[in-house]
Amino acid sequence: MRSLSGIKPSGALHIGNYFGAIKQYIQMQDDHEGFYFIANYHALTTVRDRETLRDNCMEQAIGFLALGLDPAKSALFLQSDVPEVCELTWMLSTVTPMGLLERCHAYKDRISQGISADHGLFAYPVLMAADILIYNSDVVPVGQDQKQHVEVTRDIAEKLNATYGEILTLPRPIVLDQAAVVPGLDGRKMSKSYDNTILIFDEPSELKRKLMRIKTDSTPVEDPKDPEKCAVFALYRLFASDAEREAMAERYRKGGLGYGDAKKALLALVVEHFAEAREKRAELANSPDTVMDVLREGGKKARAVAIETVDRCRDAMGIL
Ligand code: ADP
Ligand code: TRP
Repeated sequence: MRSLSGIKPSGALHIGNYFGAIKQYIQMQDDHEGFYFIANYHALTTVRDRETLRDNCMEQAIGFLALGLDPAKSALFLQSDVPEVCELTWMLSTVTPMGLLERCHAYKDRISQGISADHGLFAYPVLMAADILIYNSDVVPVGQDQKQHVEVTRDIAEKLNATYGEILTLPRPIVLDQAAVVPGLDGRKMSKSYDNTILIFDEPSELKRKLMRIKTDSTPVEDPKDPEKCAVFALYRLFASDAEREAMAERYRKGGLGYGDAKKALLALVVEHFAEAREKRAELANSPDTVMDVLREGGKKARAVAIETVDRCRDAMGIL
């Protein structure tokens, strides 16, 4: 089984990215052939500064490796090291109905806010479909918000297959229920675009400052509280063992637990959870050449597969 996923390097990695996506990549690497990439072509739709984009890519690669992505097991690479993906994007575009893209959420949200969109944002799901299909991916681990894009990918692949014969593998999204939508500091989905993120590599002092800001209701300390309605608990459960989670839920229900105490308990778990990755990240930041070598190696492996797929499509479609 081949697993593929990507994250746009449009800012620092946050806890939503970790639980929604990266943690799955790492868990899957022993029994899947992993292809994980940094979606720098996609990032061009939002990051319009050369240095920022380059720094974000490096930072993201370091983050993946520090968190445990093992280049001996999975290919880690830059989307742009496989330029064939742009050729496949065009081929797929020719069978993609406009209506399919008009229904995609990123574009639709923009238009509904009265903001005009450029063609890159409109065509974003086609490039994403090419990313997935070019590696014959079987499964795509993502958070809830990307599920629609994987379904669109299936639709596009079906169209191409119906027109030219069975040349593309239909992928399946994998979304972990518990981490489908990780809430941010304001209770909405954690997202770079909402400025409500807790970064994986925030310093402990910064983590503390942020966690203390998580929005809670005004239930008095002594009253019972519903853990299922609290963003602090929703985050706590992601880091806690089963026993810790149950004990905390019980403290909520019993009453007498202040949100400040729940936040402190959460802080302790977050700091502990990423302690090792934090150290590894500092080491990797000192050897950018090693990180670049990993990306280039991963890119070579990915490109070999991509070239075969594009050749198959060229042949089927009559491109001499
Ligand atoms: P952002 O919304 O911050 O721009 P991205 O769109 O770059 O995040 O997401 C990268 C990956 O992380 C995707 O697989 C996405 O589904 C996942 N992800 C992002 N935010 C969350 C979240 N709050 N909860 C669960 N998964 C998330
Ligand atoms: N659209 C994804 C995001 O915003 C990034 C992405 C690009 C991706 N291509 C992909 C994810 C292919 C999974 C598979 O995070």
